Amino acid sequence: MSHDTILILDFGSQYSHLIARRIRELGIYCELHPCTVSLEEVRKLNFKGIVLSGGPNSVYERDAPHATDGIWDLNLPVLGICYGLQELSRKFGGQVSAGEQREYGHAELEILENEPLFAHLPDHLQVWMSHGDKVQNLPNGFLAIGRTSNSEFAAIADHDRNLYGIQFHPEVTHTPEGKIILRNFAIEICGCRTDWSMGSFVEEAIASIREKVGEGLVIGAVSGGVDSTVAAVLMNRAIGERFHGFLIDNGLLRLNEAQQVMERLKGRLGINLTLVDASERFLQNLEGVTNPEKKRRIIGNTFIEVFEEEAEHLGQVDFLLQGTLYPDVIESVSFKGPSATIKTHHNVGGLLKNMRLKLIEPLRELFKDEVRELGSALGLDEEIVYRQPFPGPGLAVRILGDVTEKQLDMLRQADAIFLDTIRAAGLYRKIGQAFAVLLPIRSVGVMGDSRTYEQVIALRAVQTTDYMTADWYPLPDDLLRKASNRIINEVRGVNRVVYDISSKPPSTIEWE
Ligand code: XMP
Repeated sequence: MSHDTILILDFGSQYSHLIARRIRELGIYCELHPCTVSLEEVRKLNFKGIVLSGGPNSVYERDAPHATDGIWDLNLPVLGICYGLQELSRKFGGQVSAGEQREYGHAELEILENEPLFAHLPDHLQVWMSHGDKVQNLPNGFLAIGRTSNSEFAAIADHDRNLYGIQFHPEVTHTPEGKIILRNFAIEICGCRTDWSMGSFVEEAIASIREKVGEGLVIGAVSGGVDSTVAAVLMNRAIGERFHGFLIDNGLLRLNEAQQVMERLKGRLGINLTLVDASERFLQNLEGVTNPEKKRRIIGNTFIEVFEEEAEHLGQVDFLLQGTLYPDVIESVSFKGPSATIKTHHNVGGLLKNMRLKLIEPLRELFKDEVRELGSALGLDEEIVYRQPFPGPGLAVRILGDVTEKQLDMLRQADAIFLDTIRAAGLYRKIGQAFAVLLPIRSVGVMGDSRTYEQVIALRAVQTTDYMTADWYPLPDDLLRKASNRIINEVRGVNRVVYDISSKPPSTIEWE
Protein backbone atom coordinates (compact mmCIF):
# COMPACT_ATOMS: atom_id res chain seq x y z
CA MET A 1 0.00 0.00 0.00
CA SER A 2 1.63 3.18 -1.04
CA HIS A 3 -1.08 5.83 -1.11
CA ASP A 4 0.09 9.32 -0.45
CA THR A 5 -1.08 9.82 3.11
CA ILE A 6 -1.67 12.66 5.53
CA LEU A 7 -0.87 11.81 9.13
CA ILE A 8 -3.17 13.53 11.60
CA LEU A 9 -1.91 13.80 15.15
CA ASP A 10 -4.77 13.99 17.59
CA PHE A 11 -4.50 16.32 20.56
CA GLY A 12 -7.99 15.47 21.73
CA SER A 13 -10.29 17.89 19.92
CA GLN A 14 -13.89 16.88 19.44
CA TYR A 15 -13.40 17.76 15.76
CA SER A 16 -10.30 15.65 15.03
CA HIS A 17 -12.22 12.97 13.19
CA LEU A 18 -13.74 15.61 10.94
CA ILE A 19 -10.28 16.52 9.69
CA ALA A 20 -9.86 12.91 8.62
CA ARG A 21 -13.20 12.89 7.00
CA ARG A 22 -12.65 16.05 4.97
CA ILE A 23 -9.28 14.87 3.72
CA ARG A 24 -10.69 11.51 2.67
CA GLU A 25 -13.46 13.30 0.83
CA LEU A 26 -10.70 14.84 -1.27
CA GLY A 27 -9.66 11.33 -2.31
CA ILE A 28 -6.56 11.40 -0.13
CA TYR A 29 -5.86 8.70 2.37
CA CYS A 30 -5.19 9.83 5.94
CA GLU A 31 -4.92 8.33 9.38
CA LEU A 32 -5.64 9.80 12.79
CA HIS A 33 -3.24 8.79 15.56
CA PRO A 34 -2.71 9.94 19.14
CA CYS A 35 -0.21 12.83 19.13
CA THR A 36 2.28 10.71 20.99
CA VAL A 37 2.31 7.88 18.44
CA SER A 38 5.81 6.53 17.89
CA LEU A 39 7.25 7.09 14.45
CA GLU A 40 7.99 3.39 14.34
CA GLU A 41 4.28 2.67 14.45
CA VAL A 42 3.40 4.89 11.48
CA ARG A 43 6.56 4.08 9.55
CA LYS A 44 4.76 1.99 6.95
CA LEU A 45 2.52 4.89 5.95
CA ASN A 46 3.73 6.88 3.02
CA PHE A 47 2.88 10.17 4.64
CA LYS A 48 3.60 13.41 2.87
CA GLY A 49 2.42 15.86 5.48
CA ILE A 50 1.21 16.16 9.04
CA VAL A 51 -1.81 17.87 10.52
CA LEU A 52 -1.83 18.72 14.22
CA SER A 53 -5.40 18.76 15.50
CA GLY A 54 -7.01 21.03 18.04
CA GLY A 55 -7.29 20.02 21.66
CA PRO A 56 -8.76 21.06 25.01
CA ASN A 57 -5.47 21.83 26.80
CA SER A 58 -3.18 24.85 27.10
CA VAL A 59 0.25 24.18 25.59
CA TYR A 60 2.11 25.39 28.68
CA GLU A 61 0.10 23.36 31.19
CA ARG A 62 2.14 20.83 33.09
CA ASP A 63 0.55 17.75 31.52
CA ALA A 64 -0.20 19.28 28.15
CA PRO A 65 0.22 16.80 25.29
CA HIS A 66 3.02 17.38 22.79
CA ALA A 67 3.82 16.00 19.37
CA THR A 68 6.21 13.09 19.22
CA ASP A 69 9.63 14.69 18.90
CA GLY A 70 10.89 12.87 15.82
CA ILE A 71 8.07 14.45 13.81
CA TRP A 72 9.97 17.71 13.51
CA ASP A 73 13.07 16.06 12.07
CA LEU A 74 11.18 14.65 9.10
CA ASN A 75 11.11 18.02 7.35
CA LEU A 76 7.59 17.42 6.11
CA PRO A 77 4.92 20.10 5.73
CA VAL A 78 2.91 20.62 8.92
CA LEU A 79 -0.47 22.27 9.39
CA GLY A 80 -1.36 23.09 13.00
CA ILE A 81 -5.03 23.73 13.72
CA CYS A 82 -6.02 25.63 16.89
CA TYR A 83 -4.08 23.79 19.64
CA GLY A 84 -1.88 22.54 16.79
CA LEU A 85 -1.00 26.15 15.96
CA GLN A 86 -0.07 26.77 19.57
CA GLU A 87 2.03 23.62 19.66
CA LEU A 88 3.88 24.82 16.55
CA SER A 89 4.43 28.22 18.16
CA ARG A 90 5.73 26.70 21.37
CA LYS A 91 8.09 24.44 19.44
CA PHE A 92 9.59 27.27 17.40
CA GLY A 93 9.93 29.87 20.12
CA GLY A 94 6.73 31.87 19.80
CA GLN A 95 4.70 32.93 22.79
CA VAL A 96 1.26 31.63 23.62
CA SER A 97 -0.85 32.98 26.40
CA ALA A 98 -4.37 32.78 27.69
CA GLY A 99 -6.47 35.18 25.63
CA GLU A 100 -8.29 37.89 27.56
CA GLN A 101 -11.51 36.54 26.27
CA ARG A 102 -12.39 33.22 24.76
CA GLU A 103 -13.19 33.41 21.09
CA TYR A 104 -15.96 31.06 20.17
CA GLY A 105 -18.10 31.06 17.08
CA HIS A 106 -17.99 32.86 13.75
CA ALA A 107 -15.19 35.26 12.87
CA GLU A 108 -14.01 36.95 9.73
CA LEU A 109 -10.52 36.12 8.60
CA GLU A 110 -8.62 38.68 6.61
CA ILE A 111 -5.98 37.07 4.44
CA LEU A 112 -2.79 39.12 4.50
CA GLU A 113 -0.50 37.63 1.91
CA ASN A 114 -0.86 36.04 -1.45
CA GLU A 115 -0.59 32.73 0.21
CA PRO A 116 -0.45 29.09 -1.02
CA LEU A 117 -2.51 27.84 1.94
CA PHE A 118 -5.31 30.21 0.93
CA ALA A 119 -5.02 29.80 -2.85
CA HIS A 120 -8.31 29.96 -4.81
CA LEU A 121 -10.01 31.90 -2.01
CA PRO A 122 -11.27 35.47 -1.61
CA ASP A 123 -9.35 37.75 0.76
CA HIS A 124 -12.03 37.63 3.46
CA LEU A 125 -13.32 34.33 4.81
CA GLN A 126 -15.90 33.28 7.29
CA VAL A 127 -14.23 30.95 9.81
CA TRP A 128 -15.15 29.12 13.00
CA MET A 129 -13.16 29.73 16.16
CA SER A 130 -13.13 27.85 19.42
CA HIS A 131 -10.19 28.73 21.62
CA GLY A 132 -9.07 30.44 24.80
CA ASP A 133 -5.31 30.77 24.25
CA LYS A 134 -3.71 32.69 21.46
CA VAL A 135 -0.33 33.37 19.91
CA GLN A 136 1.15 36.62 21.30
CA ASN A 137 4.54 36.63 19.57
CA LEU A 138 5.39 34.96 16.29
CA PRO A 139 7.70 31.97 16.47
CA ASN A 140 11.10 32.30 14.76
CA GLY A 141 10.97 32.37 10.98
CA PHE A 142 7.15 32.77 10.83
CA LEU A 143 5.03 35.55 9.43
CA ALA A 144 1.35 36.33 9.84
CA ILE A 145 -0.76 35.32 6.84
CA GLY A 146 -4.23 36.00 8.27
CA ARG A 147 -5.87 37.89 11.12
CA THR A 148 -9.24 38.40 12.75
CA SER A 149 -10.43 41.30 14.84
CA ASN A 150 -9.45 39.34 17.94
CA SER A 151 -6.27 37.56 16.81
CA GLU A 152 -3.42 39.29 15.09
CA PHE A 153 -1.88 35.90 14.34
CA ALA A 154 -4.94 33.87 13.38
CA ALA A 155 -2.93 32.27 10.56
CA ILE A 156 0.86 32.03 10.37
CA ALA A 157 3.41 30.42 8.08
CA ASP A 158 7.07 29.63 7.69
CA HIS A 159 7.28 29.07 3.95
CA ASP A 160 10.90 27.89 3.99
CA ARG A 161 10.13 25.04 6.34
CA ASN A 162 6.57 24.51 5.04
CA LEU A 163 5.03 25.03 8.46
CA TYR A 164 1.53 26.48 8.74
CA GLY A 165 -0.72 27.27 11.65
CA ILE A 166 -4.34 28.40 11.78
CA GLN A 167 -6.31 29.38 14.84
CA PHE A 168 -9.70 28.46 13.35
CA HIS A 169 -11.20 25.09 12.41
CA PRO A 170 -11.25 24.43 8.65
CA GLU A 171 -12.77 20.97 9.20
CA VAL A 172 -16.18 22.11 10.47
CA THR A 173 -19.01 23.14 8.16
CA HIS A 174 -19.15 26.54 9.88
CA THR A 175 -15.96 27.34 7.97
CA PRO A 176 -17.58 27.08 4.53
CA GLU A 177 -14.30 27.31 2.58
CA GLY A 178 -12.40 25.07 4.99
CA LYS A 179 -12.19 22.18 2.59
CA ILE A 180 -10.31 24.33 0.07
CA ILE A 181 -7.76 25.17 2.76
CA LEU A 182 -7.26 21.47 3.55
CA ARG A 183 -7.08 20.78 -0.18
CA ASN A 184 -4.43 23.46 -0.65
CA PHE A 185 -2.41 21.97 2.17
CA ALA A 186 -2.71 18.32 1.14
CA ILE A 187 -2.43 18.69 -2.63
CA GLU A 188 -0.51 21.88 -3.35
CA ILE A 189 1.77 22.05 -0.32
CA CYS A 190 2.25 18.36 0.49
CA GLY A 191 1.95 17.20 -3.13
CA CYS A 192 -0.45 14.33 -2.37
CA ARG A 193 -2.07 12.49 -5.24
CA THR A 194 -5.82 11.94 -4.95
CA ASP A 195 -5.71 8.19 -5.39
CA TRP A 196 -7.83 6.91 -2.53
CA SER A 197 -11.29 5.44 -3.10
CA MET A 198 -13.51 2.68 -1.83
CA GLY A 199 -12.33 0.40 -4.62
CA SER A 200 -8.77 0.60 -3.34
CA PHE A 201 -10.03 0.22 0.22
CA VAL A 202 -11.57 -3.16 -0.64
CA GLU A 203 -8.32 -4.58 -1.99
CA GLU A 204 -6.29 -3.24 0.89
CA ALA A 205 -8.75 -4.41 3.53
CA ILE A 206 -8.73 -7.92 2.08
CA ALA A 207 -4.94 -8.02 1.92
CA SER A 208 -4.58 -6.79 5.47
CA ILE A 209 -7.15 -9.26 6.83
CA ARG A 210 -5.22 -12.09 5.16
CA GLU A 211 -1.97 -10.89 6.61
CA LYS A 212 -3.37 -10.51 10.09
CA VAL A 213 -5.35 -13.76 10.24
CA GLY A 214 -2.81 -16.01 8.54
CA GLU A 215 -4.15 -19.57 8.84
CA GLY A 216 -6.33 -18.63 11.82
CA LEU A 217 -10.07 -18.92 12.39
CA VAL A 218 -12.40 -15.94 12.87
CA ILE A 219 -15.85 -15.86 14.42
CA GLY A 220 -18.39 -13.07 14.45
CA ALA A 221 -22.01 -12.34 15.21
CA VAL A 222 -23.92 -11.15 12.16
CA SER A 223 -27.24 -9.34 12.43
CA GLY A 224 -27.95 -8.55 8.80
CA GLY A 225 -27.49 -4.83 9.42
CA VAL A 226 -25.20 -2.91 7.10
CA ASP A 227 -22.09 -2.89 9.34
CA SER A 228 -22.03 -6.57 10.24
CA THR A 229 -22.95 -7.58 6.70
CA VAL A 230 -20.22 -5.51 5.07
CA ALA A 231 -17.69 -6.80 7.63
CA ALA A 232 -18.79 -10.39 7.00
CA VAL A 233 -18.56 -10.00 3.22
CA LEU A 234 -15.01 -8.67 3.56
CA MET A 235 -14.07 -11.62 5.76
CA ASN A 236 -15.65 -14.02 3.32
CA ARG A 237 -13.69 -12.54 0.42
CA ALA A 238 -10.47 -12.58 2.43
CA ILE A 239 -10.52 -15.98 4.13
CA GLY A 240 -13.64 -17.80 2.88
CA GLU A 241 -14.79 -20.63 5.10
CA ARG A 242 -12.34 -19.78 7.85
CA PHE A 243 -14.78 -17.08 8.84
CA HIS A 244 -17.69 -18.45 10.86
CA GLY A 245 -20.61 -16.09 11.30
CA PHE A 246 -23.51 -16.67 13.67
CA LEU A 247 -26.93 -15.16 13.30
CA ILE A 248 -28.52 -15.48 16.71
CA ASP A 249 -32.29 -15.47 16.52
CA ASN A 250 -33.28 -14.04 19.87
CA GLY A 251 -36.98 -14.29 19.07
CA LEU A 252 -37.12 -10.50 19.02
CA LEU A 253 -36.49 -10.01 15.31
CA ARG A 254 -39.00 -8.66 12.81
CA LEU A 255 -41.36 -10.66 10.59
CA ASN A 256 -39.37 -13.39 8.75
CA GLU A 257 -36.16 -11.46 9.42
CA ALA A 258 -33.92 -14.39 10.39
CA GLN A 259 -34.90 -16.36 7.28
CA GLN A 260 -34.44 -13.36 5.02
CA VAL A 261 -31.01 -12.58 6.41
CA MET A 262 -29.94 -16.21 6.01
CA GLU A 263 -31.25 -16.29 2.48
CA ARG A 264 -29.42 -13.11 1.58
CA LEU A 265 -26.10 -13.65 3.35
CA LYS A 266 -25.64 -17.39 3.16
CA GLY A 267 -27.77 -18.12 0.13
CA ARG A 268 -26.85 -15.24 -2.14
CA LEU A 269 -23.53 -13.99 -0.78
CA GLY A 270 -22.12 -17.37 0.21
CA ILE A 271 -21.08 -16.34 3.72
CA ASN A 272 -20.33 -19.20 6.11
CA LEU A 273 -23.22 -18.38 8.41
CA THR A 274 -25.03 -20.49 10.99
CA LEU A 275 -28.50 -19.66 12.27
CA VAL A 276 -28.82 -20.24 15.98
CA ASP A 277 -32.43 -20.31 17.11
CA ALA A 278 -32.25 -19.26 20.75
CA SER A 279 -35.63 -17.56 20.84
CA GLU A 280 -37.13 -19.77 23.52
CA ARG A 281 -34.20 -19.16 25.84
CA PHE A 282 -34.40 -15.39 25.40
CA LEU A 283 -38.17 -15.30 25.91
CA GLN A 284 -37.91 -17.47 29.01
CA ASN A 285 -35.30 -15.17 30.49
CA LEU A 286 -37.49 -12.17 29.71
CA GLU A 287 -40.61 -13.61 31.29
CA GLY A 288 -42.35 -11.09 33.54
CA VAL A 289 -39.66 -8.41 32.98
CA THR A 290 -41.02 -4.94 32.26
CA ASN A 291 -38.14 -2.62 33.17
CA PRO A 292 -36.44 -1.46 29.93
CA GLU A 293 -32.88 -1.49 31.26
CA LYS A 294 -33.40 -4.89 32.83
CA LYS A 295 -34.64 -6.19 29.48
CA ARG A 296 -31.48 -4.87 27.82
CA ARG A 297 -29.24 -6.49 30.43
CA ILE A 298 -30.93 -9.85 30.16
CA ILE A 299 -30.80 -9.80 26.36
CA GLY A 300 -27.13 -8.75 26.40
CA ASN A 301 -26.14 -11.47 28.84
CA THR A 302 -28.13 -14.19 27.11
CA PHE A 303 -26.53 -13.15 23.82
CA ILE A 304 -23.04 -13.62 25.25
CA GLU A 305 -23.91 -17.02 26.71
CA VAL A 306 -25.36 -18.29 23.45
CA PHE A 307 -22.53 -16.89 21.35
CA GLU A 308 -19.90 -18.31 23.67
CA GLU A 309 -21.47 -21.77 23.57
CA GLU A 310 -21.61 -21.75 19.79
CA ALA A 311 -18.03 -20.55 19.51
CA GLU A 312 -16.83 -23.28 21.86
CA HIS A 313 -18.22 -25.92 19.52
CA LEU A 314 -15.80 -24.74 16.87
CA GLY A 315 -12.71 -25.59 18.88
CA GLN A 316 -9.69 -23.34 18.52
CA VAL A 317 -10.73 -19.89 17.34
CA ASP A 318 -8.25 -17.02 17.05
CA PHE A 319 -10.13 -13.84 16.22
CA LEU A 320 -13.42 -12.14 16.92
CA LEU A 321 -14.84 -9.96 14.17
CA GLN A 322 -16.43 -6.68 15.18
CA GLY A 323 -18.05 -4.11 12.93
CA THR A 324 -16.61 -1.19 14.91
CA LEU A 325 -16.79 2.08 12.99
CA TYR A 326 -14.58 5.14 13.18
CA PRO A 327 -16.90 7.19 15.39
CA ASP A 328 -16.75 4.37 17.95
CA VAL A 329 -12.96 4.42 17.84
CA ILE A 330 -12.59 8.16 18.19
CA GLU A 331 -13.83 8.32 21.75
CA SER A 332 -11.16 5.87 22.79
CA VAL A 333 -8.28 7.08 20.61
CA SER A 334 -6.67 9.99 22.34
CA PHE A 335 -5.19 9.67 25.78
CA LYS A 336 -6.96 6.79 27.34
CA GLY A 337 -4.35 4.17 26.63
CA PRO A 338 -4.56 0.99 24.59
CA SER A 339 -7.08 -0.88 26.73
CA ALA A 340 -9.76 1.69 26.02
CA THR A 341 -9.54 0.99 22.30
CA ILE A 342 -11.34 -2.32 22.74
CA LYS A 343 -14.95 -1.51 22.29
CA THR A 344 -17.39 -3.65 24.17
CA HIS A 345 -20.58 -2.41 22.58
CA HIS A 346 -22.03 -5.86 22.26
CA ASN A 347 -20.54 -6.83 25.57
CA VAL A 348 -18.13 -9.25 24.00
CA GLY A 349 -15.31 -8.08 26.25
CA GLY A 350 -15.69 -11.30 28.23
CA LEU A 351 -15.32 -13.41 25.12
CA LEU A 352 -12.05 -11.78 24.27
CA LYS A 353 -10.67 -12.63 27.68
CA ASN A 354 -12.17 -16.05 28.33
CA MET A 355 -11.49 -17.45 24.89
CA ARG A 356 -8.25 -15.51 24.41
CA LEU A 357 -9.49 -14.02 21.19
CA LYS A 358 -7.90 -11.17 19.32
CA LEU A 359 -10.12 -8.50 17.87
CA ILE A 360 -10.40 -7.87 14.15
CA GLU A 361 -12.17 -4.69 13.05
CA PRO A 362 -11.98 -4.13 9.29
CA LEU A 363 -14.29 -1.09 9.35
CA ARG A 364 -12.58 0.85 12.10
CA GLU A 365 -11.30 3.48 9.67
CA LEU A 366 -14.72 4.24 8.20
CA PHE A 367 -17.69 6.48 8.83
CA LYS A 368 -21.22 5.16 8.45
CA ASP A 369 -21.76 6.63 5.00
CA GLU A 370 -18.38 5.25 3.92
CA VAL A 371 -19.50 1.80 5.07
CA ARG A 372 -22.53 2.15 2.80
CA GLU A 373 -20.24 3.20 -0.04
CA LEU A 374 -18.03 0.21 0.68
CA GLY A 375 -21.12 -2.01 0.63
CA SER A 376 -21.93 -0.71 -2.84
CA ALA A 377 -18.31 -1.17 -3.97
CA LEU A 378 -18.62 -4.80 -2.79
CA GLY A 379 -21.69 -5.18 -4.99
CA LEU A 380 -24.27 -5.43 -2.20
CA ASP A 381 -27.80 -4.50 -3.16
CA GLU A 382 -29.64 -1.42 -1.92
CA GLU A 383 -31.71 -3.40 0.49
CA ILE A 384 -28.61 -4.12 2.56
CA VAL A 385 -26.68 -0.94 1.90
CA TYR A 386 -29.50 1.40 2.93
CA ARG A 387 -31.01 -0.73 5.65
CA GLN A 388 -32.30 1.31 8.57
CA PRO A 389 -30.72 0.53 11.94
CA PHE A 390 -32.43 -1.94 14.26
CA PRO A 391 -31.56 -2.09 17.96
CA GLY A 392 -29.81 -5.14 19.43
CA PRO A 393 -32.61 -5.76 21.97
CA GLY A 394 -35.01 -5.77 19.02
CA LEU A 395 -38.75 -5.78 19.48
CA ALA A 396 -38.36 -6.22 23.25
CA VAL A 397 -37.89 -2.46 23.59
CA ARG A 398 -40.87 -1.81 21.32
CA ILE A 399 -43.30 -3.87 23.36
CA LEU A 400 -43.90 -1.74 26.39
CA GLY A 401 -44.24 -4.05 29.35
CA ASP A 402 -44.21 -7.82 29.29
CA VAL A 403 -42.72 -9.47 26.17
CA THR A 404 -44.76 -12.50 25.17
CA GLU A 405 -45.05 -14.57 22.02
CA LYS A 406 -48.53 -13.19 21.43
CA GLN A 407 -47.46 -9.56 21.78
CA LEU A 408 -44.49 -10.22 19.51
CA ASP A 409 -46.78 -11.64 16.81
CA MET A 410 -49.02 -8.59 16.90
CA LEU A 411 -46.14 -6.17 16.75
CA ARG A 412 -44.44 -8.07 13.92
CA GLN A 413 -47.53 -7.84 11.75
CA ALA A 414 -48.13 -4.16 12.45
CA ASP A 415 -44.48 -3.31 11.88
CA ALA A 416 -44.37 -5.18 8.57
CA ILE A 417 -47.52 -3.39 7.35
CA PHE A 418 -46.10 0.02 8.28
CA LEU A 419 -42.78 -0.64 6.55
CA ASP A 420 -44.50 -2.07 3.45
CA THR A 421 -46.54 1.10 3.19
CA ILE A 422 -43.43 3.24 3.50
CA ARG A 423 -41.52 1.24 0.91
CA ALA A 424 -44.46 1.35 -1.48
CA ALA A 425 -44.50 5.14 -1.19
CA GLY A 426 -40.77 5.26 -2.04
CA LEU A 427 -39.92 6.88 1.30
CA TYR A 428 -37.78 4.20 2.95
CA ARG A 429 -34.43 5.83 2.16
CA LYS A 430 -35.60 9.30 3.16
CA ILE A 431 -36.45 8.17 6.68
CA GLY A 432 -33.78 7.51 9.30
CA GLN A 433 -35.79 4.89 11.11
CA ALA A 434 -39.43 3.79 10.98
CA PHE A 435 -41.17 1.21 13.14
CA ALA A 436 -44.25 0.28 15.15
CA VAL A 437 -44.54 0.12 18.94
CA LEU A 438 -47.08 -1.95 20.85
CA LEU A 439 -48.57 -0.22 23.88
CA PRO A 440 -49.79 -2.21 26.87
CA ILE A 441 -52.95 -0.13 27.26
CA ARG A 442 -56.42 -0.89 25.93
CA SER A 443 -58.98 1.49 24.55
CA VAL A 444 -62.57 1.14 23.45
CA GLY A 445 -63.54 0.86 19.80
CA VAL A 446 -66.42 -0.34 17.70
CA MET A 447 -66.27 -2.96 14.97
CA GLY A 448 -69.45 -3.96 13.18
CA ASP A 449 -72.11 -3.94 15.84
CA SER A 450 -69.94 -4.67 18.80
CA ARG A 451 -67.68 -2.77 21.06
CA THR A 452 -64.02 -3.75 21.22
CA TYR A 453 -61.55 -3.21 24.02
CA GLU A 454 -58.13 -3.70 22.49
CA GLN A 455 -54.51 -2.52 22.30
CA VAL A 456 -52.90 0.49 20.68
CA ILE A 457 -50.12 0.59 18.07
CA ALA A 458 -47.95 3.70 17.91
CA LEU A 459 -46.13 4.42 14.65
CA ARG A 460 -42.79 6.21 14.74
CA ALA A 461 -40.75 7.60 11.81
CA VAL A 462 -37.84 9.97 12.29
CA GLN A 463 -35.42 11.93 10.17
CA THR A 464 -31.92 12.20 11.52
CA THR A 465 -28.30 12.29 10.43
CA ASP A 466 -26.57 10.96 13.52
CA TYR A 467 -29.32 9.38 15.66
CA MET A 468 -28.18 11.63 18.52
CA THR A 469 -30.89 14.11 17.64
CA ALA A 470 -33.93 13.39 15.52
CA ASP A 471 -37.17 14.92 14.38
CA TRP A 472 -40.45 13.18 13.66
CA TYR A 473 -40.99 12.66 9.95
CA PRO A 474 -44.00 14.40 8.36
CA LEU A 475 -45.49 11.35 6.65
CA PRO A 476 -48.23 12.12 4.11
CA ASP A 477 -51.81 11.78 5.41
CA ASP A 478 -52.79 9.13 2.90
CA LEU A 479 -49.82 6.95 3.86
CA LEU A 480 -50.77 7.17 7.54
CA ARG A 481 -54.39 6.43 6.64
CA LYS A 482 -53.43 3.35 4.61
CA ALA A 483 -51.15 2.02 7.34
CA SER A 484 -53.72 2.62 10.05
CA ASN A 485 -56.57 0.97 8.10
CA ARG A 486 -54.52 -2.08 7.30
CA ILE A 487 -53.18 -2.49 10.84
CA ILE A 488 -56.62 -2.23 12.45
CA ASN A 489 -58.16 -4.57 9.89
CA GLU A 490 -55.41 -7.13 9.74
CA VAL A 491 -53.86 -7.29 13.20
CA ARG A 492 -56.06 -9.07 15.70
CA GLY A 493 -56.10 -7.36 19.07
CA VAL A 494 -55.44 -3.81 17.82
CA ASN A 495 -58.25 -1.27 17.43
CA ARG A 496 -56.37 2.04 17.48
CA VAL A 497 -53.27 3.49 15.79
CA VAL A 498 -51.51 6.72 16.81
CA TYR A 499 -48.58 8.59 15.27
CA ASP A 500 -45.67 9.74 17.42
CA ILE A 501 -44.89 13.44 16.90
CA SER A 502 -42.07 13.86 19.43
CA SER A 503 -38.54 14.92 18.59
CA LYS A 504 -35.30 13.80 20.22
CA PRO A 505 -34.48 15.41 22.60
CA PRO A 506 -36.48 15.50 24.80
CA SER A 507 -37.92 12.13 23.67
CA THR A 508 -35.77 9.27 22.37
CA ILE A 509 -36.19 7.39 19.11
CA GLU A 510 -37.12 4.11 20.77
CA TRP A 511 -39.92 4.09 23.34
CA GLU A 512 -37.91 2.14 25.90
P1 XMP B 1 -32.64 6.26 21.19
O1 XMP B 1 -33.85 5.48 21.52
O2 XMP B 1 -31.63 6.29 22.30
O3 XMP B 1 -31.93 5.48 19.99
O4 XMP B 1 -32.93 7.64 20.68
C1 XMP B 1 -30.87 5.93 19.19
C2 XMP B 1 -30.48 4.84 18.22
O5 XMP B 1 -29.92 3.73 18.94
C3 XMP B 1 -30.70 2.56 18.74
N1 XMP B 1 -30.77 1.88 20.03
C4 XMP B 1 -30.09 0.77 20.35
N2 XMP B 1 -29.25 0.01 19.61
N3 XMP B 1 -28.94 -1.43 21.45
C5 XMP B 1 -28.70 -1.10 20.17
O6 XMP B 1 -27.95 -1.84 19.49
C6 XMP B 1 -29.77 -0.71 22.27
O7 XMP B 1 -29.97 -1.05 23.43
C7 XMP B 1 -30.37 0.45 21.67
N4 XMP B 1 -31.22 1.38 22.15
C8 XMP B 1 -31.46 2.26 21.13
C9 XMP B 1 -32.05 3.05 18.25
O8 XMP B 1 -32.73 2.07 17.48
C10 XMP B 1 -31.65 4.26 17.45
O9 XMP B 1 -31.18 3.90 16.17
